[in-house]
Amino acid sequence: MAGIMYRQYAGESDLPHIMSLVQNELSEPYVVYTYRYFLHQWPHLAFLAFPTDHGHSDPVGVIVCKQSMHRNLSNRGYIAMLSVSKDWRKRGIASALVTNSIEAMKMDGVDEVVLETEFDNNAALSLYESLGFIREKRLYRFYLNGKDAFRLVLSVPPSSENSSDTQSDDTDNLSASTRSSVSSRRRPPPYRAIRISPYSDDEDDYVSSR
Ligand SMILES: CC(C)(COP(=O)(O)OP(=O)(O)OC[C@H]1O[C@@H](n2cnc3c(N)ncnc32)[C@H](O)[C@@H]1OP(=O)(O)O)[C@@H](O)C(=O)NCCC(=O)NCCS
Repeated sequence: MAGIMYRQYAGESDLPHIMSLVQNELSEPYVVYTYRYFLHQWPHLAFLAFPTDHGHSDPVGVIVCKQSMHRNLSNRGYIAMLSVSKDWRKRGIASALVTNSIEAMKMDGVDEVVLETEFDNNAALSLYESLGFIREKRLYRFYLNGKDAFRLVLSVPPSSENSSDTQSDDTDNLSASTRSSVSSRRRPPPYRAIRISPYSDDEDDYVSSR
């Protein structure tokens, strides 16, 4: 069986692959500007999964996220898109993508990570709950297709590893293949995530994973 290599978003050449993975699996259509909104501002929070055997050059999984202050109270990570190709599911790829993104968010002092998913997306609900997320609320007719969503939240406890003196330890949980690029793209110092988006944080979710 092929191994899997994870790396961060590397630039526009990744975009067609990301769009293909997401459009094939998520219910709502996103325009290219939506992808760029996330990828240009938070490239270090997007990861792709590649099989390591030479028969595969395209990614088989992707995660796209953002991170900003929520009402000046909490440093909030947001998972916008997550998709794994059908043939590559149930091998831990999504778990690894989510874990990589959360570890990268921790470098900027994340307090909580949120996302929405369709209320009946059992695979996604099981995945996130296996990683410690809990259901915060049900959002009535949240999606264009009329479906309800669950908002899930993961509380990230403060860690001494988020302090600037120990930042070098933060990459320990990342795969070796991503560690050097995460390190070079880190935005020092921590706890400085600011709201860049014109949207309120309750609408940071103007695009949402399904
Ligand atoms: C949801 C999705 C990303 C999961 O990807 P994956 O790589 O297969 O997930 P993993 O292998 O990391 O699974 C981790 C855990 O999630 C849960 N899980 C994953 N797929 C599941 C399924 N079909 N049914 C039930 N639980 C499932 C299990 O608890 C699993 O752990 P286990 O394998 O030890 O039982 C994938 O099914 C997908 O791309 N779906 C379409 C897009 C989508 O729904 N995205 C999420 C939007 S929020």
